Amino acid sequence: MAARWDSFVLAVAVVGLTMISSSSTAVSSFVRSSSLSPDMPLDSDVFRVPPGYNAPQQVHITQGDHEGKGVIVSWVTPDEPGSNTVLYWAENSTLKQQAHGIVLTYNYFNYTSNYIHHCTIEDLEFDTKYYYEVGVGNATRQFSFTTPPGVGPDVPYTFGLIDDYPFHDNNRWDTWGRFIERNAAYQPWIWTAGNHEIDFAPQLGEAIPFKPFANRFHLPYRASYSTAPFWYSIRRASAYIIVMSSYSAFRKYTPQYKWLEKKFPKVNRSETPWLIVLMHCPLYSSYVHHYMEGEPMRVLYEPWFVEYKVDVVFAGYERMSNIAYNVTNALCSPVSNQSAPVYIIIGDGGNQEGLAKEMTEPQPRYSAYREASFGHGILDVKNRTHAYFGWHRNQDDYAVEADSVWLHNRYWKPSGELPRAAI
Ligand SMILES: *[C@@H]1O[C@H](CO)[C@@H](O)[C@H](O)[C@H]1NC(C)=O
Ligand SMILES: *[C@@H]1O[C@H](CO)[C@@H](O)[C@H](O)[C@H]1NC(C)=O
Ligand SMILES: *[C@@H]1O[C@H](CO)[C@@H](O)[C@H](O)[C@H]1NC(C)=O
Ligand SMILES: *[C@@H]1O[C@H](CO)[C@@H](O)[C@H](O)[C@H]1NC(C)=O
Ligand SMILES: *[C@@H]1O[C@H](CO)[C@@H](O)[C@H](O)[C@H]1NC(C)=O
Ligand SMILES: *[C@@H]1O[C@H](CO)[C@@H](O)[C@H](O)[C@H]1NC(C)=O
Ligand SMILES: *[C@@H]1O[C@H](CO)[C@@H](O)[C@H](O)[C@H]1NC(C)=O
Repeated sequence: MAARWDSFVLAVAVVGLTMISSSSTAVSSFVRSSSLSPDMPLDSDVFRVPPGYNAPQQVHITQGDHEGKGVIVSWVTPDEPGSNTVLYWAENSTLKQQAHGIVLTYNYFNYTSNYIHHCTIEDLEFDTKYYYEVGVGNATRQFSFTTPPGVGPDVPYTFGLIDDYPFHDNNRWDTWGRFIERNAAYQPWIWTAGNHEIDFAPQLGEAIPFKPFANRFHLPYRASYSTAPFWYSIRRASAYIIVMSSYSAFRKYTPQYKWLEKKFPKVNRSETPWLIVLMHCPLYSSYVHHYMEGEPMRVLYEPWFVEYKVDVVFAGYERMSNIAYNVTNALCSPVSNQSAPVYIIIGDGGNQEGLAKEMTEPQPRYSAYREASFGHGILDVKNRTHAYFGWHRNQDDYAVEADSVWLHNRYWKPSGELPRAAI
């Protein structure tokens, strides 16, 4: 794994599939067993509550500002609020600094959360390893992270992509929080709310959408002048990442629309060549589940994606290349356009509903590859023109790259190379 590695988490609902490496449309011959994987027992080591009175658990970090010099540290204490302070220091420094955060709790039906802490550390140095400590007394815990290099056009950087979700059961949010800690406490995740995170359950008296998600994950949305934590942007190394919310109002005149309308023209591709959009619901999908669910959003936003040359849109299912509907012909048959993004669907972290396998037949020409499986992706940005995307199936006994593709920047087109498109 690359030394610098960051993660997107697309919290997606229905499940996995993806890709291959030929340029025509294809369906993978790999067939994942259809039996549901058994849940890991709750007494598994990965869900273990750390020892010590009121010991911090579910520790995770998130980028805390627009450029990558800030980090939000979040953790949960079970017995009492305890301390809101994060102690932190640069790798080779003896100077220990403190940042102070907030603590909150929330109720969901008959569940009451433990004490959830969020603390933003600001003004860190780029490209530096920091240690940090949360908790007090004999239950302090130490972790570390490395800040990204400063924003710049040819800064290589590796991102990991996965999606997953725990659903309505808030006790599962806690076990899942402890499960991901071994990664999320060390590498910032970029969160995108999915349909399971809506947690809209008026029958249980829970009519405010995204309640657990919003309480558990604090995001740097104000740094990008967003007015809600469900759509926001960050810059990291050579990438400009825009997170959209499929499940918040998005039509014309809504806050999300107005924010995006101002956002796209501001992206400076000389500083951040890679323009990446994350959303939960795919605009193009040829799976039966959720088929055409992204259509209202596509109608509104695809013209901007093409106009502003978005490089890649990550959502939840199969990979599709370089397509844009020709919306003027009323037939809505997708046309190839080298300004259009590649749509990669990575809805494959796993879920409790099992695989969504039914695909529409025949496979549409705009679909480059599909596989009903679980796995994760890695996006390796090499320079301003080239990025490599690899997809790793998770059911093999070894780390296998089931599919990969070179992505060519839409704005800084590599010269002399043939565009790679499914149609
Ligand atoms: C932590 O400290 C408390 C209070 O001093 C003590 O009761 C407890 O046994 C200690 N726990 C551990 C794991 O050392
Ligand atoms: C910090 O110390 C480590 C180990 O001695 C060394 O490899 C690294 O280069 C140092 N970093 C800085 C920024 O001085
Ligand atoms: C909460 O309600 C669920 C569903 O009715 C039930 O299974 C669970 O035991 C309840 N939990 C508590 C703490 O009462
Ligand atoms: C884009 O960024 C470059 C490099 O920082 C700068 O020279 C240029 O003025 C910026 N363009 C705009 C429109 O701000
Ligand atoms: C889109 O459709 C219109 C009307 O049929 C046609 O004139 C135009 O050439 C099409 N554009 C592309 C890029 O296919
Ligand atoms: C691609 O889309 C853009 C924006 O709609 C349009 O200006 C351009 O003509 C299209 N190119 C092709 C080859 O259709
Ligand atoms: C960008 O990276 C690609 C893939 O590693 C490489 O082939 C290409 O030469 C690089 N471009 C420049 C300008 O270094």
